[in-house]
Amino acid sequence: MNAMNILGEKMDLFAAKAEVLVLPVFSGEGFSAESIVARMPESVRKSVTRSMKTAEFSGKAGEVISVDVHDAAHHHILLIGLGSMKDATLESAREMIGTAIACTRRFGAKTLAVEIPVSEEGDVSDVAEAMVVAAQLADYAFDNYKEKNGAKRMKELTLVIHDGRDVLRVRKAVERGCAIGGGVAVARDLVNMPAQVMTPSALAEAAERIVKEGGKNFSLKVLEREECEALGMGSYLAVGLGSDQPVKFLHLIYTPERSSRKRLAVIGKGVTFDSGGLSLKPGDSMMTMKCDMAGAAAVLGFFTVLGQLQPRCEVHGIVAAVENMPSGKAIRPGDVVKASNGKTIEILNTDAEGRLTLADALTYAKKLEPTAMVDLATLTGACVVALGEEITGLMSNNDELAQSVLDSAEDAGEKMWRMPLEKRYKSLIESDIADLRNIPTSRYGGSLTAGLFLEEFVDGLPWVHLDIAGPAFAEKPMGSYLGKGGTGHGVRTLVELVERM
Ligand code: BES
Ligand code: ZN
Ligand code: ZN
Repeated sequence: MNAMNILGEKMDLFAAKAEVLVLPVFSGEGFSAESIVARMPESVRKSVTRSMKTAEFSGKAGEVISVDVHDAAHHHILLIGLGSMKDATLESAREMIGTAIACTRRFGAKTLAVEIPVSEEGDVSDVAEAMVVAAQLADYAFDNYKEKNGAKRMKELTLVIHDGRDVLRVRKAVERGCAIGGGVAVARDLVNMPAQVMTPSALAEAAERIVKEGGKNFSLKVLEREECEALGMGSYLAVGLGSDQPVKFLHLIYTPERSSRKRLAVIGKGVTFDSGGLSLKPGDSMMTMKCDMAGAAAVLGFFTVLGQLQPRCEVHGIVAAVENMPSGKAIRPGDVVKASNGKTIEILNTDAEGRLTLADALTYAKKLEPTAMVDLATLTGACVVALGEEITGLMSNNDELAQSVLDSAEDAGEKMWRMPLEKRYKSLIESDIADLRNIPTSRYGGSLTAGLFLEEFVDGLPWVHLDIAGPAFAEKPMGSYLGKGGTGHGVRTLVELVERM
């Protein structure tokens, strides 16, 4: 990893040694061009004032002006609008830094200094942390396979405060932000890696590395097919029958130094490639299906952050990794399997495989007696139809936990929306010959019936299901700071959540 160097400094922005100086500007009440340029060195005041005038710059969100400074040490000054101070959120700061990095890249520069935009009542740590995370997301590139790689990456970002605020708090926030941003990058790499290399075994090796780097508070169990058979995981194992890749069931454990009585289980869907199996997907739908382990990637990314933030909550990460392929050994539509909780499932579509793997993963998690369970899964195309490509569908049997996850997502800058576990729709997943069928009898409400299917395996334990099929993989850039490909969606929310537990 060649992550950019990020610093927190107490100084005047215009004293910073960087190729690009970024001044975020609020619109409205206190806005005056004079007061903005008053802080600048003589040499640039005139040209900045002129640019502000020609562009009619007023600090509205998303407004950008750049001024090239030829005679000074700095090559570019960027003014970026944040909108009015009372409407500004952490997301405004994230969008701002995304824009700043995009401009810096366009200038062909690699170092930038940015003032931390924070209102009088605002918390400088929160803003700084959000900026650092977003900066790393914006700077991310998956270019291992390119001849020219690393070319677009930033070298150094300096966050600057110039008033009486505590620089040590900023530095602490930078450190946290780096940990979180690093965890998201780990998840994105895992998703972006082609399925030909990111097999269940490769996921297991990644988990091993993460646990090893995490140190003494971490451990890992990898269950092979035989051990899963002994536990009766007929549902999960059925999914892997068509593949030449062996299944790997991963159980990561983080035990805090001083334990609280809280125990969180996070379960990630880990289908390393979803061809659909014998219910084969059409070619176009299969193109991005290396992303079907994005839930697992989020769990692993989250675990890399735990080591650095050391929260008080015990955490279990569970991934039933498997590849879904068609072959003479594959499960057939109409086959019946038995999950580890004793329930039988009629498999009518081998492409509804995620819920089959999660059935046994949730049953396993439940036995650990967690105080809360959260699963993340690229589960249904229906969820993307319902909420679009940027919003996760949340379903839960517990209002308090659901709200806690929604609040965490809001603070972390990930979009989630609650959908109901409607009891009346349960009849749609009743089978004629088994306890459940893996696809509903209706074409409608496919995310809800998938959620209801999972609920059969949680036995009333506080649980949240996150259908991340939309935001896990970006087919086009999402806002200013998240580019195409794996997004690491979920990592940031999990970090917020575990600190709330
Ligand atoms: N992995 C897919 C869901 C998916 C779709 C993820 C688009 C990301 C983007 C899942 O296994 C699947 O194929 N679901 C089926 C369920 C159906 C057969 C009931 C679907 O959504 O079509
Ligand atoms: Zn599928
Ligand atoms: Zn799938």
